[in-house]
Amino acid sequence: MAKFRKANSSKPKILVTSALPYANGHVHCGHLVEYIQTDIFVRFLRLIGEDVIYVCADDTHGAPIEIKAAELGIKPEQLIADVYKEHVQDFNNFLISFDNYYTTNSPENKHYSDLIFERLKEKGFIYTKEIEVTYCENCKRTLPDRYVKGKCPKCNAPDQYGDVCESCNAAYKTIDLIEPYCAICKNKPIRKTSKHYFFKLSKFSKKLQSWLNKNKNLQQEIKNFVFNWIKNGLEDWNISRDGPYFGFRIPGEEDKYYYVWLDAPIGYIASTDNYCKKHGLRTEDYWNSKNSKIYHFIGKDIIYFHFLFWPAMLIGSDFQLPRHIPVHGFLTVNGEKMSKSRGTFFTAREFLQKYEPEHLRFYYAGLLNSKMSDIDLNFEDFGKKINNELAANIGNFCYRALNFLNKNFYGEVKEIDNNKKLTNEIKKLAKNIEKNYYALNFNEAVKGILHISSLGNKYFQDNEPWKLINKDRENAHKILGLSANIVKIISILIQPILPQFSSKLQEQLNVQNLKWKDINFELKNHKIGKEQILIRKMEEKEEKQKFPLDLKVAKILDVKDHPNADKLYILDIDLGAEKRQLVAGIKGCYPADELKGKKIIVVSNLKPAKLRGVESNGMLLAGDDGTGPGLLTANESSPGDKVYFEGFDNATEQVTYEEFAKINMSVKNSKVHFENRELKTDKEMVKVEKTKDGGKVR
Ligand code: MSP
Ligand code: ZN
Repeated sequence: MAKFRKANSSKPKILVTSALPYANGHVHCGHLVEYIQTDIFVRFLRLIGEDVIYVCADDTHGAPIEIKAAELGIKPEQLIADVYKEHVQDFNNFLISFDNYYTTNSPENKHYSDLIFERLKEKGFIYTKEIEVTYCENCKRTLPDRYVKGKCPKCNAPDQYGDVCESCNAAYKTIDLIEPYCAICKNKPIRKTSKHYFFKLSKFSKKLQSWLNKNKNLQQEIKNFVFNWIKNGLEDWNISRDGPYFGFRIPGEEDKYYYVWLDAPIGYIASTDNYCKKHGLRTEDYWNSKNSKIYHFIGKDIIYFHFLFWPAMLIGSDFQLPRHIPVHGFLTVNGEKMSKSRGTFFTAREFLQKYEPEHLRFYYAGLLNSKMSDIDLNFEDFGKKINNELAANIGNFCYRALNFLNKNFYGEVKEIDNNKKLTNEIKKLAKNIEKNYYALNFNEAVKGILHISSLGNKYFQDNEPWKLINKDRENAHKILGLSANIVKIISILIQPILPQFSSKLQEQLNVQNLKWKDINFELKNHKIGKEQILIRKMEEKEEKQKFPLDLKVAKILDVKDHPNADKLYILDIDLGAEKRQLVAGIKGCYPADELKGKKIIVVSNLKPAKLRGVESNGMLLAGDDGTGPGLLTANESSPGDKVYFEGFDNATEQVTYEEFAKINMSVKNSKVHFENRELKTDKEMVKVEKTKDGGKVR
């Protein structure tokens, strides 16, 4: 074991973080820019074989969380536990692969916050001073900036926050507000003095400048900002807050707490520490070692904290400085700031109700670069990119190649077409993609991958294997061999962006867990698995036609004889979300014990009716060629699964039997046909038992 770890430790340890999301709100599509960007980078590093971990946590402290919990009548601990669960699930859904997702309200974070605070204090970087604060005697609390409102001292606009005016953009002190009022209870606050702790940021100007100068990774545009701030003089930073506050109490104080922005970035260290304890690693190897590399991914609104306060705290308490702090811009939706009222604010959950997580990953990747520019989620463009690039280019090439190989060559890759021009070009493109991933120019990496699959499509098209196979079967086979290798290479190149697509594609290729070093043309004498369409075009909602029936998979639970009819059964069925009773006329053709457990197809929106005195809530479907009914079945699917024809949306409103009888579904090859489509679930095609071609479905 020790030996193994040594071998590994020759590689620098890489630690990557995303900013810690506040625990007082939902994850939204703006946040996802950052988590997807970071995740792509981390997955790329893992694929290349770097020794990397990705840690993050909920940012749980501060006045807003304390106040929100009080409003809800719960403890802040309860609030942050609920939010934690939700955040973890949202990140999972978007395939964000944290190695550790922790919380800032942890013993590790308390430990490191106290340690850093004490070290800074010992070195004389922390002092106390009496300052004037705004206090609400009714709420019995000091009011943070955002909880005092009033008229702007510059332009007189009403209802402005205590720090900046949203009307004229003026910045001011809370005590300058005209006619101030408490945002919680609307009473007039008073002024009070209170002792606070200050961090001597001003003492770090030189050291920060020299770090910025020496560090060649940091974006120049950001450096320029920060140099300017430093030039204009840094003010010392108030790192304490009066209670009631949700946070860590300052050692030796009764009712004073660390300001949330003190312990939040320390949460990066705490989450690392928590990970290390669980995996037999040492936190120092990340945070106190010249051989480690730390990357903090952040958005442009928190530059000040990450380029001034945080590095100054690290320098002052002898921790390692980050190697890079990539700053991304903000998300706009259809060209404007996200807005709830305009319907352009999407939480992660809302987005998933309509779209696929990997579609967003692909779209963001196509826009992300190493600059701080904002990125726009334009839904028209989004649909086009998914359909034209992901589906029609990449998806199409992969499916076509594997499908042809399976249909004509038993899925066997034997020899590979020796086309040096093409293989060299692809190798060159792959090298470039690698560089672009490293440099965070994911948009260029996406372009490179699309270029490769275009080359693949063209190669396939130009060689016409469907014709060649009749003249020169061996050569056609070689062309498919090279095509399969290109598919394999694409599955690796795209893995950081589309991990799920990649692993399914590799499953189809009958290979597993390929790494960057497997980008080669060495897949030979190998049998692939079954191909499958992995990417479907996004359908414009308006283009879908309506299908009057709501068809679902149902499992037969129990079968009883009808008391008043010899040809009818009474069936108890499971529809996933509910259980129902149906009456069905299949008694002569199916013995009861053959029916139990069968998964059949049911019209769930048929108007309930009484059949010979027994209520039937829905109707099962069967084929009929004149020789008696044959059931429609979907045995790989689950009760409640949707059953549909591609391009049609099932109705939800009730239909009558007369309306149902007008729908012309027929049987061909044991499948149900309707307007040239076949009836299916997401998992399989629906089968029709016993019925000959031309039979009707009723
Ligand atoms: N809790 C702080 C970070 C502490 S780090 C020690 C915070 N949280 S946040 O939830 O508001 O934001 C988390 C990250 O998401 C930040 O990097 C922020 O810039 C980013 N984004 C939040 N909204 C965003 C957009 N609309 N667009 C792009 N990124 C966005 O800040
Ligand atoms: Zn109040």
